[in-house]
Parts: sequence; structure tokens; C-alpha cells
Amino acid sequence: MQLESLSWFPGHMTKTRRMIVSEIGNMDAVCEIVDARIPLSSRNPDLDDLTAGKPRVVVLNRVDQADAAVTKRWAAWFRAQGYAVIEADAKSGAGVKQFAPAVRTLLAEKIAAYEAKGQVGRTLRVMVLGIPNVGKSTFINKVSGRKTAKAEDRPGVTRGKQWVPVDRTLELLDTPGILWPKFEDPEVGVRLAFTGAIRDEVVDIEELAMRLMDYLGARYPDALTERYKITVEDGEDGWTLVEKAGRKRGFLISGGEVDTERMSRILLDEFRGGKLGRFTLETPPEED
Ligand code: G4P
Repeated sequence: MQLESLSWFPGHMTKTRRMIVSEIGNMDAVCEIVDARIPLSSRNPDLDDLTAGKPRVVVLNRVDQADAAVTKRWAAWFRAQGYAVIEADAKSGAGVKQFAPAVRTLLAEKIAAYEAKGQVGRTLRVMVLGIPNVGKSTFINKVSGRKTAKAEDRPGVTRGKQWVPVDRTLELLDTPGILWPKFEDPEVGVRLAFTGAIRDEVVDIEELAMRLMDYLGARYPDALTERYKITVEDGEDGWTLVEKAGRKRGFLISGGEVDTERMSRILLDEFRGGKLGRFTLETPPEED
């Protein structure tokens, strides 16, 4: 699993780290965006150090793709760490309206202190951070009504830091840097690959599909039965399930063997496209 495929190389990290450290002092709060399907694997492990105890809003994004019941548990878990939490589907915009009120509730004491100093209506500044593919740009666009495409997507444009107004007294700092996930843990890499955050070209598709089937077979067997019309026995391994699904779909190669590569690609596509349902791939730590 080569995480560097997303250009998470040391040069980028150093730049991002420096940028966060130099800007954090001017911030009232930090907004950490995570993928609700993998709320821990999609976090940056150094954020606590880098953001130096700033109040934090955690956005559980992509809730339309996650298991709703598990999202509730994650929201409670993050709240228990002292964070404000909102649940969002940045693509449709569901939940993003809660953002500004959540920031103001989180910062109520600070706002009162500003007012006591005569700074009524002082603009609140929030730095938005997230590893690639969590939906950071989409979220910022939705919450601010910004229409522009990501600058880095346009050839020849180098993206600098951008202030993005949400309303008259709240603005976001859209940081250009690239945040990294937890490289040391191979399970994190696998989960990021399930969601497509790590490109398929750099992973073994069949192994990835087998691992995904392992998980789905154990936690969501009914979804597999419904989608692929296969039975899922207790403890049945992912590889057997990939073969069963492929056979059912008629993906055969010469000699009657199952075309497991084709089935693997289909499984991942259908999983990411939401055709199998909504899933969360990790549960809050103390519950495991
Ligand atoms: P990033 O800045 O964190 O790297 O992510 P970005 O906003 O570019 O989003 C990556 C992809 O994820 C985009 O899809 C975006 O539409 C989608 N996305 C973002 N938030 C959500 C969400 O809450 N729910 C769902 N279902 N999708 C979300 P894309 O395929 O790259 O583009 P497009 O098909 O939307 O045009």
C-alpha cells in the first residue's frame, strides 16, 4: 500500500505543518473534517499538537454514505472529547446549516469576552482542516455559497490560503496544504483504500476486495445477500464471498473459474457508489 501516491511526501507535510503553526494563533477555532465512514482513519494524527488546544468543531461528513446508527455513536464519542460535532452531507448540503450556530455555541465564552472588550460582532475565524477526499472543498463551498472550483484543479494555478466568508461575522481559512493520515497503521491504509481515498492503481484490487468482503460479511451480511443473492455463513471468509458473488453474477473465465478480478472491481465500485447500502467501517474505540 503506497500512501505516497497521493503526494503525501515529506515536503508537503513540512509546508502544511509550518502553515498551520504560523496561522493557528489568529484562529478562534479549528474545524476538522472527517469521513463519517472512517472517522478515525481519516483523521490527521498530529492535529492535537498542531492546533494547540484551539476549540474544535468536528464535521462528520459523508453521512449519506455512512451507517446512520454508527454515525450517532461517533457523534457522541467526539462530543465526549469536548468537541462540537455536526453531521453533514456536503454534496447535498444536508447538515451544513448547523455549522455557524455550532461554532457560535462552542465559542460562546469567547464571544462574550470579545463583547466585554467592546468588540461586539467581531469576526470569528476558523481554520478548516482535513486529509484529502474527506470532502473539505465541497463542505467549504456549501457552507459559504462559494461557487469556484478548487484552484488547485486548474492547471497552472498555485493555490494560496483563502479567507472564505460564511456570514457577516464568521470566516473560514481554507488551507492549501495537504494533511496526512496515520501512515504507520496498515489498517488505516486499507480503510482509506476501501473508500477510494487511495487510488486503486497502487493497491492490489483483489486483496482489497477480499478484505472488504471480510468486513461486510461479518458486520453487514444481509446487505451482501440482498445485493449479490448469496448466502453468508458465520465466519465465511472474504475470498469465498468474492467468489460466490462473482459466480452468481456469471463472471467466469475459461475452465469455469470465477473472474475474481472483475468481481473485485465491481464490489469496490458498488460499495463506493452506495449501491450496497450505507456502511461505517470502524466503531468508536471503547466499543470495539
Ligand atoms: P477534498 O477537498 O476533501 O479532497 O474532497 P472534495 O470536496 O474534492 O470531495 C471529493 C469527492 O467527494 C467529490 O466527488 C465530492 O462531490 C464528494 N463528496 C464530498 N462530500 C460528500 C458527501 O458528504 N457525500 C457524498 N456522497 N459525496 C461527497 P467527485 O466524484 O470528485 O466529484 P463529483 O462527482 O461530486 O463532481
